[in-house]
Amino acid sequence: MAIPSLHVVVSSTRPGRIGPPIAQWILGYAREHGAFEPTLVDLAAFNLPLIDEPHHPRFRRYQHAHTKAWSKSVNEADAFVFVTPEYNYGPPPALLNAFDYLYSEWHYKPAGFVSYGGVSGGMRASARAGMTASTLKMMPIPESVALPNVFAQVKDGVFDANELNIAGAGTMLSELSRWEEALRNLRAQHRATLAREG
Ligand SMILES: Cc1cc2nc3c(=O)[nH]c(=O)nc-3n(C[C@H](O)[C@H](O)[C@H](O)COP(=O)(O)O)c2cc1C
Repeated sequence: MAIPSLHVVVSSTRPGRIGPPIAQWILGYAREHGAFEPTLVDLAAFNLPLIDEPHHPRFRRYQHAHTKAWSKSVNEADAFVFVTPEYNYGPPPALLNAFDYLYSEWHYKPAGFVSYGGVSGGMRASARAGMTASTLKMMPIPESVALPNVFAQVKDGVFDANELNIAGAGTMLSELSRWEEALRNLRAQHRATLAREG
């Protein structure tokens, strides 16, 4: 079987965001870790407007090219790491909007979070995003990486990880890999059902 695919999703979209360097770090670490084939997925590149599809996503009757492109991307993943800041104690609306666009594409895929912010390290954002993720039948794993006062670790567009960050990333990816394997059968059944439905 092919090495499972991991999408590392940059969840902030605003100009001047610090999400990309943090995502580059966890992407590189995931490559070293070896359990997954990691791909960087930048939400900003999909340019999703506030959800503008007329039908519930469970019907997959998408009208817009941006939705079809987003659906294709999410479909290709076996697992996710969402790299998310905390905005007003929650995840960025761009991430919740991207969740809402789709439904079955998310099913039976485990999700880890790398969150960042001030003293809380974005933990309130990942906890809240996890609630929505589980509604979409993702498995948000409890092992996450929180980066408090992250600003001090980003210099010249590079995130400088410390030992604690690296240890946390290793634990999260190993656990994500266990869940990916455990959910593989469910994903295969689900993909077969979707293929039958067309
Ligand atoms: C609208 C907004 C709300 C924010 N709210 C919080 C917050 O509740 N907690 C926190 O730790 N940081 C908060 N911050 C600071 C962010 O952690 C910081 O700006 C970070 O760089 C945002 O991630 P980004 O640069 O990838 O967008 C907020 C920032 C913005 C722009």
